[in-house]
Amino acid sequence: VELDSIVQERVEDHLKAYLSKKAVIKGNAQSNVFTRSTALSTDQVVNQVDDTSPKSMVAERILRRRSLEIRNRQQDWQGSPEGQKMIEFRKSLPAHKERDTLLAAVSQNQVVVVSGETGCGKTTQLPQYILESEIEAERGATCNIICTQPRRISAMAVSERVAAERGESLGESVGYKVRLEGIRGRDTRLLFCTTGILLRRLLLDRELKGVTHVIVDEIHERGMNEDFLLIVLKDLLPRRPDLRLVLMSATLNAELFSSYFGAAPMIHIPGFTFPVRSYFLENILEATGYRLTPYNQIDNYGEDKKWKMQKQTLRKRKTQIASAVEGSLEAADFTDFSRQTQESLSCWNPDSIGFNLIENVLSHICRNERPGAVLVFMTGWDDINSLKDQLQSHPILGDPSRVLLLACHGSMSSAEQKLIFNKPEDGIRKIVLATNMAETSITINDVVFVVDCGKAKETSYDALNNTPCLLPSWISKASAKQRRGRAGRVQAGECYHLYPRCVHNSLSEYQLPELLRTPLQSLCLQIKSLQLGSISEFLSKALQSPESLSVENAIEYLKTIGALDEKENLTVLGHKLSMIPVEPKLGKMLVYGAIFNCLDPIMTVVAGLSSRDPFMMPFDKKDLAESAKAQFAARDFSDHLALVRAYDGWKEAERKQNGHEYCWHNFLSSQTLRAIDSLRKQFFYLLKEIGLVDNLETCNMWSEDNHLIRSVICAGLFPGICSVVNKDKSISLKTMEDGPVLLYANSVNAQEFKIPRPWLVFNDKVKVNSVFLRDSTAVSDSMVLLFGGSILPTRLESRYGHLTMLGGYLEFFTRRSLADTYLRLKTELDEFI
Ligand code: CDP
Ligand code: MG
Repeated sequence: VELDSIVQERVEDHLKAYLSKKAVIKGNAQSNVFTRSTALSTDQVVNQVDDTSPKSMVAERILRRRSLEIRNRQQDWQGSPEGQKMIEFRKSLPAHKERDTLLAAVSQNQVVVVSGETGCGKTTQLPQYILESEIEAERGATCNIICTQPRRISAMAVSERVAAERGESLGESVGYKVRLEGIRGRDTRLLFCTTGILLRRLLLDRELKGVTHVIVDEIHERGMNEDFLLIVLKDLLPRRPDLRLVLMSATLNAELFSSYFGAAPMIHIPGFTFPVRSYFLENILEATGYRLTPYNQIDNYGEDKKWKMQKQTLRKRKTQIASAVEGSLEAADFTDFSRQTQESLSCWNPDSIGFNLIENVLSHICRNERPGAVLVFMTGWDDINSLKDQLQSHPILGDPSRVLLLACHGSMSSAEQKLIFNKPEDGIRKIVLATNMAETSITINDVVFVVDCGKAKETSYDALNNTPCLLPSWISKASAKQRRGRAGRVQAGECYHLYPRCVHNSLSEYQLPELLRTPLQSLCLQIKSLQLGSISEFLSKALQSPESLSVENAIEYLKTIGALDEKENLTVLGHKLSMIPVEPKLGKMLVYGAIFNCLDPIMTVVAGLSSRDPFMMPFDKKDLAESAKAQFAARDFSDHLALVRAYDGWKEAERKQNGHEYCWHNFLSSQTLRAIDSLRKQFFYLLKEIGLVDNLETCNMWSEDNHLIRSVICAGLFPGICSVVNKDKSISLKTMEDGPVLLYANSVNAQEFKIPRPWLVFNDKVKVNSVFLRDSTAVSDSMVLLFGGSILPTRLESRYGHLTMLGGYLEFFTRRSLADTYLRLKTELDEFI
């Protein structure tokens, strides 16, 4: 145990020196980064409140004068022809009729909940009404209205629109602020910002000094930040009786929010939309004569295998929704449809989005339907980009010059953004491929056709939004309705749902709030980094809270990996992890990769672990695919290193313009490799921003060092570790929690008869009949010893109570004490330190 602490101390010193060196280079205010961080991040400093409260009579006179100036400028603009036109437009919005009701409610109540159809004018009008009424009441210079948006792109787009409606440019009375960007000026009184920005401001300024109104938009989405914000604001309201809070939501679950705030009054803005006709998959197949590709044609499965596979795929579905889908497919009555349609429906695979199907529907619209823009809801930007590429290279939609193909997602450029809102010339068909952000926060006026693939995922990995990445999952009925509604804005429209009606009927009513969907470990880190107090206590005050036992487990895990200390405070590592939007263990790998200057391969590993598997294993060519993968593994006993080699090879091939061929020969998915590539870029940008890397060269000084890379992988994946015992011709594996375990057939280590290292670290395990480990890497004693445990010794309950977690592992499996192990490996260790 003593020796253990010596080792730990040395690692700690090493890290300390390293981190503070990095911090000095970065010019960071935190001189000793390794002590618990209380210093503010640059972002927090940027967000320091600009205090606008009048300090003296002179100040008050100046403010009054400014207030009058603002008013006069408005009146001038309103007199101009464009101003007149804009006023007419604004008056035509459904919100206008409720203007007085809304303003009265806001002045008489501390909290008001407003709901209304998308496009009725909540976001652009309501904050403006408040601003206008404040200006009328000569409080134009002192009011300070903050309106939050869940996404940065809507904060930017909306502020631009509102400024335009007022004949101003951004930075006059209207501004915006998102992470790393913003425009606002001396006179800015209405600020659109992301929810995250307001949360961070609350950290520094718990009372929201000087703010008169907070408007929280799109609360029906139940984003994590919005739920967080509501808890904090609910606490604040009694201390700030003059502060006004308005909650705005699209769909009608206003009651929930109203009751959360003690029966706050609700105002509904009645809206008008044209009727929209719905088509489900069976109708689409019937109308277009299209047939879904059976499994056997995709992958050359034999006829038998096709049915078997299909049954298996359906059986394997674990989530509740999927079993509902399975049940409803079996129970559905498709007897009204032709035999061809019925047969085709049986080939429907709930897992695949089916680009062919989307292309077919788009082609049908372009060729046979009346003019009008098409809005396609897809799952994420990687799918959007692939489909866009595919459509551009195969002009299945007819004359390419007649089609305007656009993408709409969280990370598009502002030039692209403008094109989305513009009406194209006559005869040109605008097709917008969008993520679910086009459901409510963005309104494209000329949409007549909607194509809904039925799934959604949070904007995959978006470093700027700080959202962890999630897999596509089925949308709710409320979302489907919302998507359908987008087709009826200007005239009667049509909506094509790319799934059977019976599946629609089995969707849940509303989507689960993000707070209940987010991995709890990330959630706990967020709560800590936002300094919201005790995790369990804070979560118990939420609109809906996660189970307390799961919360406790997550806290325990965070302590084990060294992100939280014994008192549940964020450690320096934890602080960094909270800024990296991947699972904490993967974040830890990135941090260590940066510290130990082997970032490049580690970024590939982490990007790979946060996307799909790029190694494809077609059923009928399994042997070939396996040997292709084994080549990449190069008998290194690591799936992670195999991935690194496959990716590096692909990059090289791309440079020589034969990336496609390379993927084909090696059974790799180029789509996934591209996604990995883009994730890596985002990681690098992010690590740079949080001060962990300076430039590409230094952080890759050791990128060729196989041992070091392995060690860093071990640092991230511990305590995901199993012991390896080689018997003749077979390997027996054990974890401390499960006993004997097996490897997935896809793992390169599953093909080996002997693994020349005593441990495997793995990132994932799944219990089917036995426990199976996914991707794994073989590591040595010294790697586990040095990089495995948390730097601060964590007590292990039970009879290993006196040891660190790490010591417990070593003793449990090797029956050797930590000291023995240390002495035996001293020479090897010295190389590391
Ligand atoms: O928030 P809500 O969905 O209720 O509507 P909004 O975003 O305030 O938009 C109201 C109307 O303003 C929309 O129906 C559009 O006609 C128009 N609008 C626009 O033309 N350009 C924008 N960038 C935003 C809104
Ligand atoms: Mg809105």
